[in-house]
Amino acid sequence: MVGGFFALILAHSVELLFPTLVSQVLDQYNITQTIDSKYYLYTCIILLIGTTFTYLSTYLNALLGEKIGQDLKNRLFRKVLKHNYSYLVHNKPSKILTVINSDTIYIKNTFAQSLGLILSSIFLLIGSVVLMFSLNSQLATIIVIAVPTVIIILLLLIKDKFKLFKVVQELRDALNKITSENIKATMLVKVFVSEKTEIKKFKKVNQKNKDIGLEINRIFSLVVPIVNSLAIIATMIIIYFGGKQIIYGDMTIGEVTAFNTYVQLFTLPILMLALMTAMIGQAIASLKRINEILSAPVTFKDGKLAVKKLETFEVKDLSLKIEDTEILKGVNFEIRRGEKIGIVGLTGSGKTMFLKHLLRALEPTSGEILLNKHPLRDYKIKDVRNITGFSFQENFLFNSSVLDNIKFGRKIPTEKVMQVAQIAEVDKFVKDMQDGYNSNVGELGGNLSGGEKQRIMIARALAGDPQLLVLDDATSRLDIATEDKVFENIRKNHKDISIILVAQKISSVKDCDRIYIFDQGKITEFGTHEELLKHSVLYQEIELSQKNYG
Ligand SMILES: Nc1ncnc2c1ncn2[C@@H]1O[C@H](COP(=O)(O)OP(=O)(O)O)[C@@H](O)[C@H]1O
Ligand SMILES: [Mg+2]
Repeated sequence: MVGGFFALILAHSVELLFPTLVSQVLDQYNITQTIDSKYYLYTCIILLIGTTFTYLSTYLNALLGEKIGQDLKNRLFRKVLKHNYSYLVHNKPSKILTVINSDTIYIKNTFAQSLGLILSSIFLLIGSVVLMFSLNSQLATIIVIAVPTVIIILLLLIKDKFKLFKVVQELRDALNKITSENIKATMLVKVFVSEKTEIKKFKKVNQKNKDIGLEINRIFSLVVPIVNSLAIIATMIIIYFGGKQIIYGDMTIGEVTAFNTYVQLFTLPILMLALMTAMIGQAIASLKRINEILSAPVTFKDGKLAVKKLETFEVKDLSLKIEDTEILKGVNFEIRRGEKIGIVGLTGSGKTMFLKHLLRALEPTSGEILLNKHPLRDYKIKDVRNITGFSFQENFLFNSSVLDNIKFGRKIPTEKVMQVAQIAEVDKFVKDMQDGYNSNVGELGGNLSGGEKQRIMIARALAGDPQLLVLDDATSRLDIATEDKVFENIRKNHKDISIILVAQKISSVKDCDRIYIFDQGKITEFGTHEELLKHSVLYQEIELSQKNYG
């Protein structure tokens, strides 16, 4: 920044010096009809210094901007990942995306362009005023009062239009949102034949975007010729008054010419400064949003206890509130080593939100979670996550190979991957793929069927050798025979493993040691399959409905 600043000052000093040089050449030629050879040398030096330092200042400012942009992006990304998952639950991911992607660009541009422009404008403004006064104070006074007055009046007339910049930004966000939503949900949009509505929605925003873009252009195409005309009028005034001074011998031709150049150097910065205020306003708003993320305290505290063997996991009276909505209400739950626990319940009853507590992805509003009789938050989070293997209901596959998707960025030997792939019955379908485990799964796993994706997710969960395997609706797309085979394989290879299985089908949880029934954020009943069939009306109803449809 300091380098860029000095380079800029040097480059502009030379720019301010040049008219004086020209003025001397003119006056000498006027008298002697010759040009001293030293002026050729001066011109070369000035040109050389001017170009070198203009280049240097532009380069250094761009470097500064890029580095600041890069640094901000890194810091934001690191900070967002440092936060616990619950931060994302409470702050919208789309907002965070905008901050990382757009707001950092404003800051980058401010440092790369606006800051340099502001500095050079101020420098040129002061320099040209001083030099104008040194040439002719009377004429300088007229210019220094008249030019800014006219420009300020002009800017006041279009003041309201500056708001358009902000509207453009909002519209761009809206367009992005509609586009990404529709691309992500192409299938749904097609199935529900809502293309027409979506296209209409997009067209409306796009139309507005175009209108405002045109309006901004219209203003700018007006501003430029008006300012140019102003400069011409100023030149005419200078020629008129300056000409008189030449005739009376108060000023030389060279001085009037130099004076005229200084007026041009004085006019542009005023306009620049006005435009820059709008840009800086936008940058400050961006900075505020960036700071909001960077300064948000990370409330998550890691524990110190190490976890060796999972003996018991108990949940006592757990409740969760998100923005005044009670999601979970007094949940009690227990699992011991080697047990297989089933969870059933309607969608939206809180099963997934409950499971996220076992990983400390969410912290309860009240209640206790005990691992081996100690509070979960006292354990090292790395250990907790190492002993658990999760397969969530929203399956997420990278656009990469089957192998990479099972490894998921962890250092897992390929033999281990092959082993868990056998267990999760991934091997069955990978065998038939062209490149085997190196076959690409496509964007979001688009090349695979739902059941194939789920099996990769299960293999991924198993690859870390977990003591607790949590499958959240992770077997819904497997046929009963494959599902049974997967569990049989798991039992054979991981003797001591505890399993929590969220399922829609009663047949999936039938052989569980205990089954918990979730209903509207509460566990209403629990017991074995036989017990629940006897006592639970809800369980009987689900079982009956599934029997009827076979
Ligand atoms: N990120 C979130 N922010 C606020 N509410 C949420 C969030 N995720 C889920 N919920 C709400 O929590 C409730 C339970 O959801 P969930 O645990 O996903 O249900 P289930 O897994 O049983 O289908 C639902 O009412 C849902 O709307
Ligand atoms: Mg769920």
